[in-house]
Amino acid sequence: MDKIIVEGGRSLEGEVKISGAKNAALPILISSLLTDGWNTYTNVPDLRDIQSTKDLLLHLGARIETDKDTVQIDAGGVGNHEAPYDLVRKMRASILVLGPLVARLKKARVSLPGGCAIGARPINLHLKGLARLGASIELKHGYVEATADRLKGEEIYMDISTVTGTENLMMAAVLAKGTTVLSNAACEPEVVTLADVLIRMGAKIKGAGTSVITIEGVSNLKPVSVKIIPDRIEAGTFMVSAALTKGNVTILDCEPDHLEAVIHKLRLSGAEVSVKDKSIQVKGANEIVSVDIKTLPYPGFPTDMQAQFMVLMSIASGFSMISETIFENRFIHVSELKRMGADIKISGNTAMITGVPMLSGAPVMASDLRASASLILAGLAAKGTTEISRVYHLDRGYEEIERKFSQLGAAIRRVKA
Ligand code: EPU
Repeated sequence: MDKIIVEGGRSLEGEVKISGAKNAALPILISSLLTDGWNTYTNVPDLRDIQSTKDLLLHLGARIETDKDTVQIDAGGVGNHEAPYDLVRKMRASILVLGPLVARLKKARVSLPGGCAIGARPINLHLKGLARLGASIELKHGYVEATADRLKGEEIYMDISTVTGTENLMMAAVLAKGTTVLSNAACEPEVVTLADVLIRMGAKIKGAGTSVITIEGVSNLKPVSVKIIPDRIEAGTFMVSAALTKGNVTILDCEPDHLEAVIHKLRLSGAEVSVKDKSIQVKGANEIVSVDIKTLPYPGFPTDMQAQFMVLMSIASGFSMISETIFENRFIHVSELKRMGADIKISGNTAMITGVPMLSGAPVMASDLRASASLILAGLAAKGTTEISRVYHLDRGYEEIERKFSQLGAAIRRVKA
């Protein structure tokens, strides 16, 4: 298995260009299932999760052409309605095919994703919503089997704000008969951009970006050409790297409006953050100030930035508390950070961090995507060498991360197994 080796202690300087957003691209590529004919997507990041999505769509019968960051998909020939365990276990977001397949083929058989390192991650709200739209749902042999002649619009209240749940139900409802109202819908930018794509396909959707989304069903949709929005979590990760190494980094091609909570907390921690159109410049302060964080659905502080921010707090000048309210097991990075000298105690869903002057490089193990990114950040700030194993987690969601950090002056390299 590949390893990433980081020699810490260098200030990062320069410019870095942000790639297309993984979590926007996944549902958007899958939304091609709702149309006949070639859809064109640009700014698609080259990631393992994108490849898994393409493998799944090919398995279902779609045709796909890829040229650099442009992906074209024609789902006109899709006839297979089954997403098998082997494909779904590689990427939980595969569950997003459920809504579009039932809407389009009137049936779907999708392997249940199961838990993952960061939590149990049930899909009960996806299933309850689809049942409200008239699908008959059965769980058999580890699979969800859903059938419906034509889905019917309904009012659906989601007990918890769920990103992929909202996306799945939105994609199911666009071809339903009548009007669907999704209440307590997720407001994340990835939901809004999916709604924009569906609207361009001919769907009638109002309210995306608020907690109530109204969808008036139509009988068919047409293919589109769209550009994937920038990845706010990749941008946030590079922003923290500048603050952490007391560097000066300009993040290009990002969407500052999607990063308000991260910008706010970075400023409170002492970093100088200047926003200009589609770029953000972060200058690290000599002294990092401790700041409390609580992860929340958008526009709150993103859970996907919690691990990275914890690294910053671990070398801040005081005491801080980080509460994780989205996932029940998203502190797996803590034990690895402690091995690098961080002083962190966990009580329930809160991490209590007493800043230390310096982290020290150590061999560490990645456990999930964002935890892996936090270990790279810790390595960049630490004295000595950090060797990160199980980096396949990183390849799921960060495009060319070693090249981008090297370009900013980091001493980072990948050792192939
Ligand atoms: N939940 C339920 N029932 C459901 C669905 C969700 O109880 O049917 C709970 C979850 O267990 C969790 C909370 O609701 O406690 C929120 O989870 P959500 O459904 O919003 O998460 P998700 O849609 O599975 C997406 C991102 C995650 C990101 C979360 C939260 C994608 C493909 N994934 O997951 O991204 O952390 O939203 O913002 O969009 C990552 O990129 O590293 C990542 C994990």
